[in-house]
Amino acid sequence: MKYGAHLNYALRNINLTINPGEKIGIVGRTGAGKSSLAKVLFRLIHENTSGSILIDGQDISEFGVGDYRPRLGMIPQESTMLDGSVRRNLDPLQQFSAEDISGQQQLFGLCRVIMRKRKIVVLDEATANVDLETDRSVQELIRKEFSDCTVLTIAHRLETIMKSDRIIVMDRGAIAEIGTPQELLSKDGMFAQLVETSDFGQ
Ligand SMILES: Nc1ncnc2c1ncn2[C@@H]1O[C@H](COP(=O)(O)OP(=O)(O)O)[C@@H](O)[C@H]1O
Ligand SMILES: [Mg+2]
Repeated sequence: MKYGAHLNYALRNINLTINPGEKIGIVGRTGAGKSSLAKVLFRLIHENTSGSILIDGQDISEFGVGDYRPRLGMIPQESTMLDGSVRRNLDPLQQFSAEDISGQQQLFGLCRVIMRKRKIVVLDEATANVDLETDRSVQELIRKEFSDCTVLTIAHRLETIMKSDRIIVMDRGAIAEIGTPQELLSKDGMFAQLVETSDFGQ
């Protein structure tokens, strides 16, 4: 996948099967292609692409709008408010800056997805703007609420994805490593290095 005919590939050679109910953690440096992977899954980008994505055996390029709704939910990296009144509900006395509220917007996004009970849920750095303590409670909530769902968690903090069934390490648009946390920790690769340095390059 490319963002433009003249641009470099944002995703290359991705060949991957995710099982129903599996919890997948996705890590990698800024620009590695994590959000792009989420975008193609939601068909937010379909120009300059090749290959196919199947959900329950059906090619998503054949999906109508109605096919997506019961299946996928995303908490995007850039979460937006639905309505001005949501902000007023959060901060009725207008005591907080937009900065103070940014993490809360993402939690609203999370609540929307939880309520709708999607089968496949993608969290794109959904807890990047909340503190560690809140992140832990949110991960706990996700494990509980989405136990039957397939969950792809793009992580800002390593701790967030350590309990995943499998972890994908993205690098320059490709899958550099994939395996259980234990498998990846026991080989001296990128993931082991990330854990050692806790460095996501951001
Ligand atoms: N809207 C866009 N237009 C052009 N290039 C983009 C756009 N969004 C992302 N890219 C490029 O695609 C690559 C992958 O980006 P992205 O998927 O956002 O990475 P990540 O989420 O891992 O930080 C990067 O080289 C980035 O600069
Ligand atoms: Mg991203």
